[in-house]
Amino acid sequence: MQQIKKYIEENKQRFLEELFELLRFPSVSADPKYKDDVLKTADFVAAKLKEAGADQVEICETAGYPIVYGEKIIDPSLPTVLIYGHYDVQPADPLELWKTPPFEPTVRDGKIYARGACDDKGQFYMHVKAFELMMKTNTLACNVKFMIEGEEEVGSANLGIFVNANIERLKADVVLISDTSMISMENPSIETGLRGLAYMEVEVVGPNRDLHSGVYGGAVANPATILCKMIASLHDENNHITIPAFYDKVIELTADEKRALNSAPFDLEEYKTDLDIAAEWGEKGYSTLERTGTRPTLEVNGMWSGYIGEGAKTVLPSKANAKISMRLVPNQSSDEIAEIFTRHFKSIAPANVKVKVTAHHGGEPVVTPTDSTAYRAAEKAILDSFGKAPIPTRGGGSIPIVALFESALGIKSVLFGFGLDSDSLHSPNEKYDIYNYYKGIETLPLFHKYFAELSKG
Ligand code: BES
Ligand code: MN
Ligand code: MN
Repeated sequence: MQQIKKYIEENKQRFLEELFELLRFPSVSADPKYKDDVLKTADFVAAKLKEAGADQVEICETAGYPIVYGEKIIDPSLPTVLIYGHYDVQPADPLELWKTPPFEPTVRDGKIYARGACDDKGQFYMHVKAFELMMKTNTLACNVKFMIEGEEEVGSANLGIFVNANIERLKADVVLISDTSMISMENPSIETGLRGLAYMEVEVVGPNRDLHSGVYGGAVANPATILCKMIASLHDENNHITIPAFYDKVIELTADEKRALNSAPFDLEEYKTDLDIAAEWGEKGYSTLERTGTRPTLEVNGMWSGYIGEGAKTVLPSKANAKISMRLVPNQSSDEIAEIFTRHFKSIAPANVKVKVTAHHGGEPVVTPTDSTAYRAAEKAILDSFGKAPIPTRGGGSIPIVALFESALGIKSVLFGFGLDSDSLHSPNEKYDIYNYYKGIETLPLFHKYFAELSKG
């Protein structure tokens, strides 16, 4: 532990500068205009893995953005840790809401503000630096494999293909991922579940062209109004989703599981103040933690129709569109939910409009074990570095690849996240606390040490 702290202390400034360099690449995978920047980010990651001491470093081409691979096999008889992360980021817009530019990392009040600071550059880079530390101090206790991808934020469409084509190369005893949140630094926690996702796009089409809203208004169904009504009907008065069969496969938590989940420190008043909302919302009969961690949900992510430019234009739009996603919980299947959503959404359309439904990416929910060697190693590592054992929680977000690692490679993951829900992931002014960054670099070598020790039995 002293050795770890000493190395971090001596290299602190450089660790930060390197992360800043990484954050300056606008590696937005969703927007083709950043293609070169995304590719340059992969080069940077590969170079840093090499510098840190990884072998077999390769920028693996895919049909989309490349996956950066690297490994250090010190002894085949030792356990192997596969580290997964993503170097791509979400788009930064709306730009005008950023206090400082998203790709010029800026420190305010001990926090690094930049797109990707927490999700996931700041978090996966902790692993690169922890690996460097273990190499330089001769303390690497496990074999390590890195797999850092560039398409997580757009659904990891090509990762499954890569994983299935590289089963041997990716063989490991555990997948270690830092891409989730903790409750707080005072209450360290480990997420033990992630929700799945089914992401849909709908289009409601009325008349064959935009119409004068005075000449035709009142006599022709307005697709924007119809779309709003259809969307509004997807929740009932108890905020329960109304799509038939939607909840059929959902497993209810046992009373014990509910009690454990709700015993995690959570302050509803603070939550509301932070978000500046007068009241919370959600499915009747469930607490806020249950709603985000264990219940499936349906959200409108975006809607557009008609005239949205400056000033006023009197128009009855021809079309209205929305992007709608559903978060899924264990036992629900993304494809199945996409299908029942499509059927239902078409069935509730009135005769005066046509409806199109298409599916975007999806992903399956997962629950990760808390009785595994790897989880115990993570627990011990946190106990050492935070002085407190972690609380197991359920995360509301999705990392579709986690279920895939299980089905394709038969390997379970540990979601070793050091972010905070309040880090504004996907929002303007995303941040990551410098303290969390160093704390992660300090905790990760302990994980490797305990994982090797506990694996010996
Ligand atoms: N790192 C997040 C997921 C996350 C964040 C999990 C916080 C738990 C806590 C990841 O990058 C992400 O944003 N995933 C997407 C899904 C993906 C298919 C676009 C999500 O959850 O919306
Ligand atoms: Mn992420
Ligand atoms: Mn994300």
